[in-house]
Amino acid sequence: MTKRAVVIGCGHYLPERVVENAEFEKTLDTDDAWIRSRSGIERRHFAAEGETTSSMATAAARAALADAGIEADDLDAIVLATSTADLTFPSAATMVQAELNMNKGFAFDVQAVCAGFVYALSNANALIISGQAKRVLVIGAETFSRIMDWTDRSTCVLFGDGAGALILEAQEGDGTAEDRGILSTDLNSDGRYRDLLYVDGGVSTGTSGYLRMQGNQVFRHAVAKLAATATTAMEAANVTADDVDWIVPHQANIRIIQGTAKKLDLPMDRVVVTVQDHGNTSAASIPLALSVGRTRGQIKPGDLIVTEAIGGGLAWGAVVLRW
Ligand code: UT7
Repeated sequence: MTKRAVVIGCGHYLPERVVENAEFEKTLDTDDAWIRSRSGIERRHFAAEGETTSSMATAAARAALADAGIEADDLDAIVLATSTADLTFPSAATMVQAELNMNKGFAFDVQAVCAGFVYALSNANALIISGQAKRVLVIGAETFSRIMDWTDRSTCVLFGDGAGALILEAQEGDGTAEDRGILSTDLNSDGRYRDLLYVDGGVSTGTSGYLRMQGNQVFRHAVAKLAATATTAMEAANVTADDVDWIVPHQANIRIIQGTAKKLDLPMDRVVVTVQDHGNTSAASIPLALSVGRTRGQIKPGDLIVTEAIGGGLAWGAVVLRW
């Protein structure tokens, strides 16, 4: 028998306000055609005044709890991936814990920028297989609209806000790739690339700062590193591209998504794509895509899924799981 972390529920939350590409034409030297053709993004959601990472995370968590048919007190832990926590501390995860009236267990944030959800899944999996937790709520939530420089057309048109959540539960498998649950994880980072994507504020500056990105440099790293980490994770899970039902990639740029799928030898009809509607929601993009993919009827129980993501750090990784 092998302990597996199995998905028993998922949900998501998107803020009400939808901003189409054309809106940026009013204030910036940009247009819908450039944004669409270079990134695949058509629209994104922006949080309302007063909406925060923890409030969106709580909404996604409630949807996932309802989907799983369990209560917050049935959870042992919350792992929340974000780079836009409401405050420097306490963690957004403990704020969600309080909002859910979860009066036991433990909660903490994981900060690996756009790779955050993959890191959070890997951490939650480790908690479950080591016996430290039986049920873990894993959330990705971001309010990147709060760290946009609205005069920088090369970044502010790319990002959006939102949250997605999964609930993982310890179940017994037989140790094969036919098991449901997380089958393998692969995490990587290389701090030499910090200047390619960072926020120019924090405790050292006394400001929360703005996102700065050398987009074309990040792009150059993305396809090769994403294909490599997905391949490593698939080998560790003892599966091949032929076995994969869905790639659920980080949703930053349709050209990165297509390039990675091609390198992995997977056709685009086996890729869940939401970038056109959400933009880049950093750590929220994969759980949003998983939840939307299931709502669309793409992802079904028993499907083999590969998730992969890269972002600031650079940090990148992949998770193979059977839904
Ligand atoms: O999620 C975390 C990881 N992040 C990513 O994965 C993002 C990776 N990078 C990208 O997605 C792409 O590099 C971008 C979408 C950011 C940019 O696409 P690109 O094809 O790499 O364009 P570029 O940065 O090389 O810029 C091409 C041109 C430049 O003009 P010049 O220098 O050629 O005259 C930019 O100034 O496009 C210009 N440009 C714009 N033009 C109209 C940059 N932003 C805009 C804009 N509207 N919003």
